[in-house]
Amino acid sequence: MSAMPDKGASVDAGCDEARTVLEARAVSKCYHLGEVEVHALRGVDLSICEGQMLSIMGPSGSGKSTLMHIIGLLDRPSNGSVVVEGEEVSRMAPNELAAVRNRRIGFVFQSFNLLSRTTALANVELPLVYAGVAGAERTRRAQEALERVGLADRIGHLPNQLSGGQQQRVAIARALVTDPSIVLADEPTGNLDSASGIEVMKILQELNEHGITVVIVTHDDEVARHSQRIVHIRDGRIVRDEAVAVRILAAERERPLVDEAEGVGL
Ligand SMILES: Nc1ncnc2c1ncn2[C@@H]1O[C@H](COP(=O)(O)OP(=O)(O)OP(=O)(O)O)[C@@H](O)[C@H]1O
Ligand SMILES: [Mg+2]
Repeated sequence: MSAMPDKGASVDAGCDEARTVLEARAVSKCYHLGEVEVHALRGVDLSICEGQMLSIMGPSGSGKSTLMHIIGLLDRPSNGSVVVEGEEVSRMAPNELAAVRNRRIGFVFQSFNLLSRTTALANVELPLVYAGVAGAERTRRAQEALERVGLADRIGHLPNQLSGGQQQRVAIARALVTDPSIVLADEPTGNLDSASGIEVMKILQELNEHGITVVIVTHDDEVARHSQRIVHIRDGRIVRDEAVAVRILAAERERPLVDEAEGVGL
């Protein structure tokens, strides 16, 4: 396995104010289901620095997705606040909030969430349709995003004509097409075999190298160690915040393609 000490890793929550892109302050979330109250988050403080690659790890039901939805502005906390690039979200009007989310944040989900009867290209164009970008420009940008994830030759394919890893790469292209500064990925490798998972982690690391802040939710320690920092969550609380001393680099883990390997052997 290839790994390299990460000298620039940030230890725990400290990044200076100017470089904090996303912040949860004393965030709690309580779901009310009839008589039952579910405390999904119980006072979470988390600062995410610009350009950081961070994993949120924890067992099933610990509150990872809830936290991701709240910092991704898809849901509101019951108490506490979320600050995006210095601005407190609760003070924003709903349309302003949607604009910040659409422009700044890209989402990748475990189950890809692609439209099944729609080509890869059209799936990637979709966020630009909502953003009101005109036809030719839309297509150009969607093609560019698909090229970035290595799928230039699959733009006309439907999701069921693509492998799981390729579908997830289309989903990453869709997250990228609006040029976000932050990508939030909830179990992005959860439905993939290990080779496809490595491919997806490689793309996320490449995006991060180009300055995009990447937050990954996972229960897989190996996936988490591709990032610079791991935040551990249990029962709705952060219990540990660690810098990754020896980071896994996905690009160095990829096995050569079969034909290349054969070429070497001949
Ligand atoms: N919409 C909801 N209504 C009620 N309870 C919810 C809702 N969403 C999540 N919960 C509860 O909140 C807690 C945290 O859920 P969450 O989905 O954040 O966990 P998770 O860490 O992402 O788990 P997993 O690894 O299984 O995805 C769980 O107990 C869950 O049952
Ligand atoms: Mg979850």
